[in-house]
Amino acid sequence: MFKSSTQSIPDECCGVPRHVAVIMDGNGRWAKKRLMPRVFGHKKGVDALRETIKSCDAMGVEFLTVFAFSNENWRRPADEVSFLMGLFLQVLAGEIERMHEKQIRLQIIGNRSRFAPELLKLINDGEQKTAANTGLTLSIAVDYGGRWDVIQATQRMLADRPELIAGFEETDLAPYLAMAYAPEPDLFIRTGGEQRISNFLLWQLAYTELYFTDMLWPDFDRAALQTAVDWFRGRERRFGRISEQVQPVS
Ligand code: FPP
Repeated sequence: MFKSSTQSIPDECCGVPRHVAVIMDGNGRWAKKRLMPRVFGHKKGVDALRETIKSCDAMGVEFLTVFAFSNENWRRPADEVSFLMGLFLQVLAGEIERMHEKQIRLQIIGNRSRFAPELLKLINDGEQKTAANTGLTLSIAVDYGGRWDVIQATQRMLADRPELIAGFEETDLAPYLAMAYAPEPDLFIRTGGEQRISNFLLWQLAYTELYFTDMLWPDFDRAALQTAVDWFRGRERRFGRISEQVQPVS
């Protein structure tokens, strides 16, 4: 288990965020600006994701978690939902082998009950194939919501340990959360100009540094990631302490 930011001070190293979480927003607007259909922006978004995976890997980031589809995204027009599901299927089918060669470990987080059987099989096979890889852990959140996660974790915990109905602690629940295999994100990035969390990793973002940029996701490249990481390096992470406890007095 990794250290919880509310239970202890997480280990930090080297100025590179260990875990980066991203809301890849702005695909639709990127396409609209070019008088193209929204889905064209999603296709370009896949290229930006590929680039971000490579850049994180090169920088020494250990965990990259991206929000591809929220519990609430089912409310989008049916043709866009079906395009996105088809895109996930196509991308996973085409990329798993390459990820495996690059030692990337793939994890999908979210509610799998509504996935098409074909997508479910690709996800299970992809996770199994890459499970022992030692490079970057790429987590893709699909049909994910932070509230869904807390509820599913509570249900599973109580099914395993019914006695906890009388009362439980953070440390009882944490192992049942969808990202129990990863440390909490150090750096959160949202592109597209909005400044909100949109039900992403609500539990895990407790002490994450939040970075927002107006850049639309398809334009997000290595230089943009570096700018976000440089900003992160300038933050004083106090985890509830005061500045003097963090900075040695000179
Ligand atoms: C938000 O932009 C983007 C999404 C809801 C989809 C993100 C998906 C990708 C980048 C493709 C990733 C593919 C895989 C396999 C993970 P938006 O549509 O809300 O843009 P807008 O705010 O400009 O309308």
